[in-house]
Amino acid sequence: MTNITPNNLSDYNGEAEFYESVGIHQKLKHKFIDLYLKIWVENVGQRSRTTPPTVDFFDLYAASGLAHDQNTGETWEGSALLAAKAFGEYPNGRLLFLNSYDENPTTCKHQIEILKRNIQNLEDCPHVNEKTRFFSADIHQATDEALRIVNKDYPSLWILDPYHPDQLPWKIIERIGSTSGKPFIDKKSGRSVMKKPELIINLMTSILQRNIDRKPELLSNAIGLSQENWTPLYEKYEEKWKRLGVEKCTRHIILDIYAERLSQLYKNPPIIAEVNAAEGGIVYAMLLVTDSNAGYYNMKKKMDEWQDYKIYQWKPEAKLSVFKRKNPDQKDITTWF
Ligand SMILES: C[S@@+](CC[C@H](N)C(=O)[O-])C[C@H]1O[C@@H](n2cnc3c(N)ncnc32)[C@H](O)[C@@H]1O
Repeated sequence: MTNITPNNLSDYNGEAEFYESVGIHQKLKHKFIDLYLKIWVENVGQRSRTTPPTVDFFDLYAASGLAHDQNTGETWEGSALLAAKAFGEYPNGRLLFLNSYDENPTTCKHQIEILKRNIQNLEDCPHVNEKTRFFSADIHQATDEALRIVNKDYPSLWILDPYHPDQLPWKIIERIGSTSGKPFIDKKSGRSVMKKPELIINLMTSILQRNIDRKPELLSNAIGLSQENWTPLYEKYEEKWKRLGVEKCTRHIILDIYAERLSQLYKNPPIIAEVNAAEGGIVYAMLLVTDSNAGYYNMKKKMDEWQDYKIYQWKPEAKLSVFKRKNPDQKDITTWF
């Protein structure tokens, strides 16, 4: 692979306050994103005997492209830079769409400036710059624009990584997830199929879990159902977990409902990775939703490398098909990088 790195990953002119400020556990989010991007580059792009299909990458919460841990002073690549590098290595990328927005105008301005500089500084791949479209708007407007310019008939990968569940309403998922290209006959199966966007979603389960009684509208907004409509689902999954002997199961239930909602939009159930925080407790879940069977099965295979994390293919009923289900201490994470 070409070595594409921005020139400087350390705190550049003391501007780290505008990088995504995170604990080390957030590295797992980036690892998850990177794994799937690598599948694109290596399995689809570089192994193709003919010209591979074009691909569009969308990062709708691109921020500055860098993440920073204030405790260790460490800085690493965020989703936008990971996407840009993968895009640079993929032989037939068409569009890289990066939306960097914050409601605070100063933060917004700095984040996008840093992002642009980081993309410009990528070595060895001028074509990334040519094909990158920067945008800076609230998620609703950014989604309008992204759906206007996506090539629906070819693959597209969407990274949806908000800080808070409020910033990713179900409407957004529904709009992107119900977008599809013209039907065509799949050579392998002989069936009529349509291309659909592939989604990587960061679901902040801990926030939803903490607020389930005080602010149930947070969950309503995240799953696109009124409380009245999600209560029966909640009870259904609560019963499932209690049957399995799990008493404290709010997080599990939230994930079940979210996964069920995604499964109404996609044929394949989501692949889920739950991530522990340093302070203990699972704080968020990364989900991959795709109807591309090759991408799906490759990701499942890759997930076997996630030795110590709880990763599974979601199933509505009873036992989960868990690839690995040990939840490690924070210190185990360091063996990853
Ligand atoms: C978790 S950070 C993204 C980090 C980034 N994906 C990375 O890996 O480096 C979430 C970003 O979403 C932005 N944001 C907050 N509210 C938003 C909204 N309504 N629409 C779009 N972006 C928003 C925040 O300013 C922040 O830059």
